[in-house]
Amino acid sequence: MKIFVAKDYAEVSALAYGVIKDVVLQESSPVLGLATGSTPLGLYALMAEDCAKKNVSYKNTRTANLDEYVGLAPSHPQSYRYFMEHNLFEHIDLPKESAYLPNGSAQNLEEECRRYDALLEQMPRDVQLLGIGNNGHIAFNEPGTPFDCGTHIVRLDASTIEANARFFDSVNEVPRRAITMGIRGIMSAKKILLVATGTKKALAVARALQGEVDESCPASVLQRHQDVVVILDKDASAKLRF
Ligand code: PGA
Repeated sequence: MKIFVAKDYAEVSALAYGVIKDVVLQESSPVLGLATGSTPLGLYALMAEDCAKKNVSYKNTRTANLDEYVGLAPSHPQSYRYFMEHNLFEHIDLPKESAYLPNGSAQNLEEECRRYDALLEQMPRDVQLLGIGNNGHIAFNEPGTPFDCGTHIVRLDASTIEANARFFDSVNEVPRRAITMGIRGIMSAKKILLVATGTKKALAVARALQGEVDESCPASVLQRHQDVVVILDKDASAKLRF
């Protein structure tokens, strides 16, 4: 595991972009595992900027996102499909049909989980981008999620609902369920890129990277992956022992 502590958010984003850009330039048909949340926004802006300058093209890239709320249509401004379209896909030359997300509006959600796992098997990710929740979740794998689970439907933790309420008009509008790539799917990526900033993440980061590997902290499973790059700002690294 390689851990970088950057001086600020701009440097976190630049370092993360360096990892993504290397993969995209090295692979003939790159597969990127992408994430939503506030943390990757700076990275996505750099991807868009560099693509506009024609330094990088995503024409041969495919992407697979981690998760989606259950019950929000893709056109809903808080759906993760909408987030990805507006913050990244519209600004790069990725073919529309090459961007995959689990469908939280599927009629049969169990079938959708199986469809997404089959898709992930067909397109192994060269790199999987991850944020981390204040409670140590990765994607929507909340504390207590078995490490060997595939794509599944989750009931969101109260702390996750509260953390995500900032994007909705009220906490009552935050969906209670989501469809998420499982920990097995995350761990099957060839490389993991974990990005975290801010004091609120410091405890989760320390537990994940230096605590016991235990299902009470889903991100701690990353200690078992052979190729993990972690990029933190100073605040998020504050509880690590170096
Ligand atoms: P954030 O979310 O980037 O908005 O902090 C990360 C997460 O909950 O996984």
